[in-house]
Amino acid sequence: MHRSIRLFKEFQIEPLPRIPRRLAFRTAISKPLLTVKILRTIAAARRFRSQASGRMVLVPTMGALHAGHASLIRRARSLAGKDGAVVVSIFVNPAQFGPKEDLSRYPRPFAEDKKLCASLGADAIFHPPAGEMYRADFSTWVNEESVSGGLCGASRPGHFRGVTTVVLKLFTIVQPDAAVFGLKDFQQCAVIARMVRDLDLPVRLVFAPTVREDDGLALSSRNAYLTPEERAEAPTLRAALLAARAAFSKGEHSAAKLTRIVRGKISAGARVDYIEAVDSATLKPARVTKRGDTIALAAFFGRTRLIDNIQL
Ligand code: PAJ
Repeated sequence: MHRSIRLFKEFQIEPLPRIPRRLAFRTAISKPLLTVKILRTIAAARRFRSQASGRMVLVPTMGALHAGHASLIRRARSLAGKDGAVVVSIFVNPAQFGPKEDLSRYPRPFAEDKKLCASLGADAIFHPPAGEMYRADFSTWVNEESVSGGLCGASRPGHFRGVTTVVLKLFTIVQPDAAVFGLKDFQQCAVIARMVRDLDLPVRLVFAPTVREDDGLALSSRNAYLTPEERAEAPTLRAALLAARAAFSKGEHSAAKLTRIVRGKISAGARVDYIEAVDSATLKPARVTKRGDTIALAAFFGRTRLIDNIQL
């Protein structure tokens, strides 16, 4: 079985995080529980690491936190237990944005993010300025050369090099025992799993399911860019993937036919970037799909690029 899915299943049975800290949010008496440490430098993060006991769990993010991120932080809290520590990193990583992408307009509501992290029982937020992570003459990159090539990697050159580089740096700075990522960014999970395997990184990866709006749209900070019309059409991505999975369950295993079903269900107003059926670990395109394969897609609604995926 694909490693990420196996890991995911392993952790699936862990109890949900305890609620009391969250309730404590409203009671002045337990206020100290709420303190989340803000670590702005690598030195501060290292000090925090050396003083922490128990299992350290990292949730890497770029901030603008929503319920999807919150689910990862809850999972991290449950993995760390009451003796361990949860560190959320909030860093809008310039290295993973292309020249025409939305780096400058990426939302940065730090005060709200901090409140959410505190209410979910995170112990610290690693929130460095860009110069702390990338010196002016930074010149060392991590390049995964197989899994990162297709899908989003094909239309966003350099993106995954930015992701692997920053994630490795976060791992060496925070030194977590485990790190939680969301399967919404399915290729990101596969690329990081490959990096961890290839470089023997002593970090246990946990992949958490996608949190969605009631109409099926995967939560994303980019949803805020959608016009009301685009927002109304965006849930067709999920509906299309569900239709393909239903067809797979009824015996349709041809990748071409399944991706055609997906394409046919996505609203006409969207511009499809890619729809592909792939092996979930290698991300190699499938001609005949099998159980456990993934159909992944990206589509533009206006200027906003959304991604989603489904496991067969
Ligand atoms: P960001 O887009 O902020 O996402 C942080 C984490 O939240 C990722 O693991 C992502 O998969 C997860 N996530 C986003 N939307 C989700 C949803 N609807 N349900 C569940 N999880 C969701 O991904 C990044 O940041 C960056 O590439 C990062 C890994 C931090 C490296 O810079």
